[in-house]
Amino acid sequence: MNLYEAISARHSVRTFTGQEPDRSIIERLDLPDQDGYRIVVVNSSLSGSIGSYGVIKDAPAWLALVCDGSDSSTLRCAMAAERCVLSLTAQGLGSCWVGGTFNQSDAGKKARIREGEKIAAVIAFGHASSHRRFLERVTSALAHSSKRKDFDELFELNKETPAVCRTVLEAIRLAPSAVNSQPWRAKADRYGNVTFSSASDNTYTMLDMGIALEHFIIAAERLGIKGRLEIPDTPTPRLIARWIAASA
Ligand SMILES: Cc1cc2nc3c(=O)[nH]c(=O)nc-3n(C[C@H](O)[C@H](O)[C@H](O)COP(=O)(O)O)c2cc1C
Repeated sequence: MNLYEAISARHSVRTFTGQEPDRSIIERLDLPDQDGYRIVVVNSSLSGSIGSYGVIKDAPAWLALVCDGSDSSTLRCAMAAERCVLSLTAQGLGSCWVGGTFNQSDAGKKARIREGEKIAAVIAFGHASSHRRFLERVTSALAHSSKRKDFDELFELNKETPAVCRTVLEAIRLAPSAVNSQPWRAKADRYGNVTFSSASDNTYTMLDMGIALEHFIIAAERLGIKGRLEIPDTPTPRLIARWIAASA
């Protein structure tokens, strides 16, 4: 399975077997360590160590999204993290983004964050249990996890927008988002240039939008759409990023 196929295969997994993932799977993750953000793999039980209020069970490992707290670093870190999520999916592992229900200070200690850093989110991962607990089914149902908004509610296309642009945007509709809020919005012009914005403005906005941008990039890569993504120094819900089509 490639990363594009993993976009359709992925769904949130909250109950794990506890079995440690193969080292080779973790070695294949593209973990950024840049000025402003990095992703750290923590090999310890998520439920026991940092407290996820029972939502996640028996995850043997997790990713910590360590950022400097700026919107730009959070957005970029979420992009890199979603690539990791899809790599884990492609390699047969389950995962779940955890945005709010974890203990910031315990997680910080486990991930050995430095002064001035904070953890924007964690991602539990491991082998999915075949048994979905009652709590997992309730959490998933409350978030209407499998429901997605209509394409036309999210995205605005020009009559002459290249058809392939629709296919690339479809990859965003399958993205995970906090409480399945699906804040992603995009407008495409006749040349295939796309402007991304967010319908939400909360602590999850940059995470949700970073995930969406990565789905877009992966779909564009796979479908051979050439262009470049421009992220402003200070992204805002009104202007998260612009995709400039190569032919435009
Ligand atoms: C930024 C972010 C934060 C999330 N936080 C939580 C969380 O704290 N607890 C939880 O059970 N699920 C959490 N989720 C998972 C969402 O509920 C889930 O992605 C959404 O319901 C869509 O379902 P799906 O991932 O199965 O497609 C989070 C997802 C994202 C993207």
